[in-house]
Amino acid sequence: LSVAVLISGTGSNLRALLEAASEPGYPARIVAVGADRDAAGLAHAAEFGVETFTVPYRQHASREEWGAALAEHLRRVDADLIVLSGLMRLLPADLVEEFSPRIINTHPAFLPEFPGAHGVRDALAAGAVQTGASVIIVDNGVDSGPILAQERIPVLDGDDEATLHERIKPVERRLLIDVVRRIAEGDIDLAHPVR
Ligand code: GRF
Repeated sequence: LSVAVLISGTGSNLRALLEAASEPGYPARIVAVGADRDAAGLAHAAEFGVETFTVPYRQHASREEWGAALAEHLRRVDADLIVLSGLMRLLPADLVEEFSPRIINTHPAFLPEFPGAHGVRDALAAGAVQTGASVIIVDNGVDSGPILAQERIPVLDGDDEATLHERIKPVERRLLIDVVRRIAEGDIDLAHPVR
């Protein structure tokens, strides 16, 4: 299974996927990594010899125009699966329509709890005693697509956004690596996702 990963940040989840895909026997390979800015995580792709591209959001007049440029790269790369891992942008509807349901996203909360760009911060602000990590299929909502995998994670006394997020990320990575494997092996059918 060929996989393209889109990021905006440090790409620690991307790195975990690159490492997993380097293992012999893992049924997926990362064929490209794209970003909406000069993301630090692009260095991980370069280290693994994986093609990178950037479509800087601020160089485009609108979300739609940015999305059209991004879609061109995705068509060129022609990956079987697109993984959003820390992409901090909502994809425009046209792009989601074109590639759905072959786009999945990892989110640092137990969806449908705390969707959106600040799931970790929102869980803390709500005084939640537990949150989680989720892997979903991207639809035209905000973190509202079918859930492919999720796991509960405790919020500990004294947690701040950083400590909680660092406890969530390893779970995200494990879920993401497992979901990509199951898609590659046909155990998950993105056209008929059942949990
Ligand atoms: C991850 O928790 C992801 O779910 C969220 O942002 C974080 C990205 O972290 N959207 P990294 O860039 O993979 O380190």
